[in-house]
Amino acid sequence: MNLKDKLDAFPLFERIAQAARDEQVKAYVIGGFVRDLLLKRNSKDIDIVCVGSGIALANRLALDLGPDVHVSVFKNFGTAQLKQGDLEVEFVGARKESYRSESRKPIVEDGTLEDDQNRRDFTINALGISLNDEDYGELIDPFGGVRDLRMKMLRTPLEPSLTFSDDPLRMMRAIRFASQLNFDIEPDTFDAIMAMKDRIEIVSMERISDELNKIVLSSVPSYGFKLLYQAGLLPYIFPELMALHGVEIIEGRGHKDNFYHTLQVLDNLAPHTDDLWLRWAAILHDIAKPATKRFDKRAGWTFHNHEELGARMVPGIFRRLKLPLNEKMRFVKKLVRLHLRPIVLSKEEITDSAMRRLLFEAGDDLESLMKLCRADITSKNPEKVKRYLSNFDLVEKKLIELEEKDKLRNFQPVITGEIIMETFALTPSKVIGVLKETIREAILEGIIPNEYEPAFAFMVEEGSKLGLSPVTFPKEK
Ligand code: CTP
Repeated sequence: MNLKDKLDAFPLFERIAQAARDEQVKAYVIGGFVRDLLLKRNSKDIDIVCVGSGIALANRLALDLGPDVHVSVFKNFGTAQLKQGDLEVEFVGARKESYRSESRKPIVEDGTLEDDQNRRDFTINALGISLNDEDYGELIDPFGGVRDLRMKMLRTPLEPSLTFSDDPLRMMRAIRFASQLNFDIEPDTFDAIMAMKDRIEIVSMERISDELNKIVLSSVPSYGFKLLYQAGLLPYIFPELMALHGVEIIEGRGHKDNFYHTLQVLDNLAPHTDDLWLRWAAILHDIAKPATKRFDKRAGWTFHNHEELGARMVPGIFRRLKLPLNEKMRFVKKLVRLHLRPIVLSKEEITDSAMRRLLFEAGDDLESLMKLCRADITSKNPEKVKRYLSNFDLVEKKLIELEEKDKLRNFQPVITGEIIMETFALTPSKVIGVLKETIREAILEGIIPNEYEPAFAFMVEEGSKLGLSPVTFPKEK
């Protein structure tokens, strides 16, 4: 198969070919870029393998491209990188022996193109395209990668246990690609994952989470998670999620399997967001169900306060998975904590004060929370789902009306600590916090509007109950 036409869409390949000619080395496009080219997926990362020095080839190309092009050289790995427009190109010399894996010192020995292809993870990732004069554009496919692309199959080029021993992260990569591309994993390859699952323990959590996040972002993420479960990898990488699996039955009554429920929520949410962290909120929304599970003879199974305990579990899980501990984590925590609130509202008589509180607490994350909650309705009874969703529409409509009226979403109290201190001639003390809280509560309860004058009057009144009298009067606003 010749892919010259496809290469012609990228003028850069001609330039690389010229640099290789000048350096007198053979160069090939390899790996993910070739796979994606055949799958018609967009890819910005190009890997070039050359039989010789990748660094020298990159430097030669940079010279040819002009002074604006900067080459980053990673001597230890024998690789060099350069950017051209939105393309990122990595150059490496062909190798024998083990694939570079950050967890160990790389064993590098120069090799042929074939040696290099042998040491790659999957047949579909071992495809090469020649950039050399004699066969420019020719596809080099020693392991049936094109066949596997057609069959939508992940298969290792060599005996699976050998490929996985080189870098056990590849067990997760198999599942990640299956989930991302909607491929199957070839049975011998999958058997090897099951047999070698514990080897994942030598891989760093950062690399594992990178793959996990790609599973989370795929269009049907439950597929990847089910494969992780079936392969036996899940307990090693994500025991908290594993703990959601299973149903306990007491006195003939069982609860739902929260593992499959969680995956269903994640799948329901997927078409509505590409936000990784909102998807993480779906994964973690019921994470404390095992820890809060109780059986009550009258009420049946309960998971009292699982939203609160779940929120508190988020930082620990993020820390272990080496996910960021910044505002992304706080967003997930907040959504886990609030995930039942809109549902409760849609079941009960809706009071304005409950709505105001939700607006105040959710703030700018309200849309995300509503998306999560809609996804959380997973009843098997379509009538029930319909009823819940239409109640939800009602809640949403009321929230919008209330927000327009009261502007609570980015609630800024009209009475600040400074105003309280000035009015009652106070120095910083506990009573200021107490007053602030009382005023906020009154606004959220709808006793007073979120406006300066009525709030000031209310403050004076509440202050007098605490034995304070004003020394100044409301300022004109
Ligand atoms: N590779 C490998 N073993 C690994 C990682 C990578 O053999 N553990 C090889 C594969 O040939 C892969 C190439 O290096 O195609 C590039 O790796 P990477 O950039 O991680 O993945 P891509 O295949 O490009 O896919 P994506 O861009 O979706 O991550």
